[in-house]
Amino acid sequence: MWKELLPIGRAGSGGYRRFAWTGPDAECRAWFRAQAEARGLAYEVDANGNQWAWAGDKDAGDAVVTGSHLDSVPDGGAFDGPLGVISAFAAHDELRARGVTFRRPFAVVNFADEEGARFGVACVGSRLLTGSLTREGAHALRDAEGISLPQAMEAAGHDPGALGPEPERLARIGAFVELHIEQGRTLAAASDSAAAGSHRIAVASAIWPHGRWRFDFRGEANHAGTTRLEDRRDPMLTYANTVLAARKKARLAGALATFGKVTVEPNGVNAVPSRVSGWLDSRAPDEETLASVVAQIETAAAERGGRDGVAVEVTRESATPLVEFDHALRDRLVELLGGQVPVLPTGAGHDAGILSASVPTAMLYVRNPTGVSHSPAEFAEEDDCAAGVVALADVLEGLV
Ligand code: GLV
Ligand code: MN
Ligand code: MN
Repeated sequence: MWKELLPIGRAGSGGYRRFAWTGPDAECRAWFRAQAEARGLAYEVDANGNQWAWAGDKDAGDAVVTGSHLDSVPDGGAFDGPLGVISAFAAHDELRARGVTFRRPFAVVNFADEEGARFGVACVGSRLLTGSLTREGAHALRDAEGISLPQAMEAAGHDPGALGPEPERLARIGAFVELHIEQGRTLAAASDSAAAGSHRIAVASAIWPHGRWRFDFRGEANHAGTTRLEDRRDPMLTYANTVLAARKKARLAGALATFGKVTVEPNGVNAVPSRVSGWLDSRAPDEETLASVVAQIETAAAERGGRDGVAVEVTRESATPLVEFDHALRDRLVELLGGQVPVLPTGAGHDAGILSASVPTAMLYVRNPTGVSHSPAEFAEEDDCAAGVVALADVLEGLV
């Protein structure tokens, strides 16, 4: 499976550019369909473009579902997303090899547009399924070229006509388990000080609340060689100070704040910019801290904007509340994995986090020796990935 998937959407950096509803995404989706059909699983695409591969009666209810996503961030790693989908198919094969009888319907899922790299909102497929993103909200999404989400879906061959919540489909899911590469070094660090190979796998406890905010800084374009410093209204200055303020406010609060995306107009080397837009990603252990950190960053931006003669406008583009995974399912996973498995929180968002508001949901993490993620350097050892498949199969065997 890896051999077929690895070349798709690979950039010169060695990372991946598999943005929702683009050519590379279509290739990944064709791969998913081929995997489903090769196993005799019933393939379907739901109203929101999520792909499903079913064993048993998909309409019977109380289904056990596993999977993740195949899209990527710009220059993403090979594992964030695909590891969960490949492991899901491999765990299915393992269950068949073990001769397990499926008493409940079972599905592998590929959620559409998890990273939100193209339209700005993360987990679009799972949010639409659950209703945490409305049909109207989805219709308002545009990419950098002004193409709307429905237009992009249509161009990729998916009819967007029925876009929106699917409560009946959701109600037929009895449990969802997502396997994912760990996006930190907690397991690797624990393994450094324990017997080799002891902590390849963890179970998730919670996801920090997080969100994305667009900061628009509007000043005045002017000549870089003739405009006196005191006459400028330079939005780049306000932006730069806001980035530094974000770092400081987050550090003092024990939170995270990142400006990872920026656009500049007119983007000329010898012109004071007229506008800078920067996207803030912020996350914190609790919702109060997150709200306070973002409010402090907004205040710092407005104060600095006042001094620079720059107007600042802040738009919240997405928000995900604190997720505490279902305790009973989490405890069942720990028990099915022999009881000695670490239970970890994460700052990373996942479709599992979105589903957890409606469905008993759990996650497994596979050790990442460097902890690097959202980068071509993201990595997991083959033995650890294999252990992930066995762990997922053990869990699913106990559930199906
Ligand atoms: C998704 O990977 C996110 O946490 O942004
Ligand atoms: Mn990711
Ligand atoms: Mn992911």
